[in-house]
Amino acid sequence: MTSLNDATVLVTGANGGLGTAFVEAVLARGARRVYAAARNPKEWSDERAVPLRLDITDPDAIARIAEQAGDTTILVNNAAIYPKGDLLTAPIEDVTAVIDTNLLGPIRLTRALAPALRSARGALVNIGSVLSWFAVGQAHSVSKAGLWMATNALRLELVPDGVQVLGVYAGPTDTPMQAGNDPAGMNKPADVAAAICDALEAGEHEVLVDELTRKVHSALSAPVTALYPALTPQ
Ligand SMILES: NC(=O)c1ccc[n+]([C@@H]2O[C@H](COP(=O)([O-])OP(=O)(O)OC[C@H]3O[C@@H](n4cnc5c(N)ncnc54)[C@H](OP(=O)(O)O)[C@@H]3O)[C@@H](O)[C@H]2O)c1
Repeated sequence: MTSLNDATVLVTGANGGLGTAFVEAVLARGARRVYAAARNPKEWSDERAVPLRLDITDPDAIARIAEQAGDTTILVNNAAIYPKGDLLTAPIEDVTAVIDTNLLGPIRLTRALAPALRSARGALVNIGSVLSWFAVGQAHSVSKAGLWMATNALRLELVPDGVQVLGVYAGPTDTPMQAGNDPAGMNKPADVAAAICDALEAGEHEVLVDELTRKVHSALSAPVTALYPALTPQ
């Protein structure tokens, strides 16, 4: 169980849809400080929110993070990109960028802040997706599947030192990442942020935020055609 009251939380991609909702949620639950990390940091109205410049694909910036935010007790790997395009035809630079941002960035940042998390007996939160288990997101799905397993592996490494590792899996959520798609039926970012906070405080290992995500997850134990009917010959 990880209390948010008095916690020092670092959130990557803090200016995005879920990032902003999460910063607001943890402040409302009594966080002492929130490092609102972003490529282009902005001012926040609450003085407990500390803007921090951080591109998670920049190893030099990550090397400086332990000095800038070494009192972090909860790290939230939230930043991600979702370039469109098939694995076979998209520019290969798009494929490598999404793996670098969505998978290697969180691993690098977790390595940099692991000593802080261990000494605080704090928490790591990795924002996965229903697309961790469903291939329609192409390279994004590949990166989120990797993050799912990285989260599981990091849990095995960190739990013995009292660090809670929470994997978050959600379906479509009404944020700029979904620009151009109909928001009807999508999760609200504030609801996802509340579900994450509740799961942290309850000491969970994973939170599957919505029905779609739970359905896709449960289909993983069925033959692959259950998730991909197009594979069944007509
Ligand atoms: N929206 C959904 O339907 C949905 C569903 C399931 C899971 N998720 C996950 O939820 C998380 C938050 O996404 P969101 O929906 O809130 O999307 P979003 O509004 O697009 O936010 C993503 C944030 O990541 C930041 N970012 C991208 N590359 C970065 C980098 N190299 N370094 C630092 N920050 C970087 C972006 O920063 P800039 O502002 O600088 O571009 C942006 O603020 C992601 O992990 C996403 O995969 C989203």
